[in-house]
Amino acid sequence: MVDEPLLDKAARLIARLGRVTALTGAGISADSGVPTFRGRDGLWRRFKPEELATPEAFRRNPRLVWEWYRWRMEIIAKARPNPGHYALSELERLGLLECIVTQNVDGLHQKAGSKRVVELHGNIWRARCVECGYRLVFEKPPDDIPPRCPRCGGLMRPDVVWFGEPIPEDAWREAVECTLRSRVMLVVGTSGVVYPAALLPRIARDNGTLVVEVNVEPSALTEEVTDIFLQGRAADVLPRLVERVKKYLRATTSS
Ligand code: OAD
Repeated sequence: MVDEPLLDKAARLIARLGRVTALTGAGISADSGVPTFRGRDGLWRRFKPEELATPEAFRRNPRLVWEWYRWRMEIIAKARPNPGHYALSELERLGLLECIVTQNVDGLHQKAGSKRVVELHGNIWRARCVECGYRLVFEKPPDDIPPRCPRCGGLMRPDVVWFGEPIPEDAWREAVECTLRSRVMLVVGTSGVVYPAALLPRIARDNGTLVVEVNVEPSALTEEVTDIFLQGRAADVLPRLVERVKKYLRATTSS
C-alpha cells in the first residue's frame, strides 16, 4: 500500500513544479501482462540475454533470435495499456509532462495516447535490414522468420537495442535534453541497472531535479538518487498520483 503522506507530498510538488520527465521500464507494463526482465518471474531468469539479445547471438542464429522476438510480439499484441500508462498520458494532457523516456519496446505508452515518447531501446514492431537499412513496421507477428528485406532481400533484424549496442543518437540526445528541461523526474518500474538509461535519473539529480520513484520494491536507484519513493504497483500508484495532482491544480486555480 502506497504511503499516503508521501503520495500527497509528491503530488503537491508535481503540481507546483510541473515539467515532468517520466523514465519508464518494464514494471509499468507488468500489469498489462508483459513480463519484466529481472526479478522472480523475469525473462532473464529463463532465457540468456547473450543468446537472444546481442548482435553476436543474431549473427550466430537469426532464426532463434526472431523466434524469441516473435513470441514476445505475440504477448505484446494481446496487451492493453493499463491505468499506469493512461495516468502518464493524462499528465501530458494537463500540460505537465515534458516527455516519456521509455526503455520498453512494447509501444503501450503511444497506445494509451501519449504523444511525446522517446524510445531508448527501439520498438518491437519495427524491423530493419542489416544490409541496406530499410525499415518496416509489422502489424502482427511475422509468419516467416527470419524476415527478408522487401527492397534488397537482405536479412531483417528487430529494430531494438541489444546489449553491447549504443542507444540511437537522436533518442539519447532527446532524452538528455528533456531531462535537463525538467523539474521532476518520475522513475517508474525500472530496476535501474541498465546503462545508459540509468544515468538519466542521476543527470536529473545532479541538475537539481526532484526524483520521484514508483516501484513495487526499492531499485538500484532508490537509495542513492530518489527523493520520494512511492512503493506500489504503477497501475495503482500513478492514477492516484495524477488525481491528487489535479486536486492541487484546482486548488491553485481557484485560490
Ligand atoms: P527490469 O525487469 O530490470 O525491472 C523491472 C522493474 O519493475 C523492477 O525494479 C521491479 O521491481 C519493477 N516492477 C515490477 N512490477 C511492477 C509494477 N507492477 N509496478 C511498478 N514496478 C514494478 O526492467 P527494466 O529496468 O525496464 O533492455 O530493464 C531495463 C532493460 O533491461 C530493458 O529495456 C531490457 C532489459 O534487458 C534490453 O533488452 C536492451
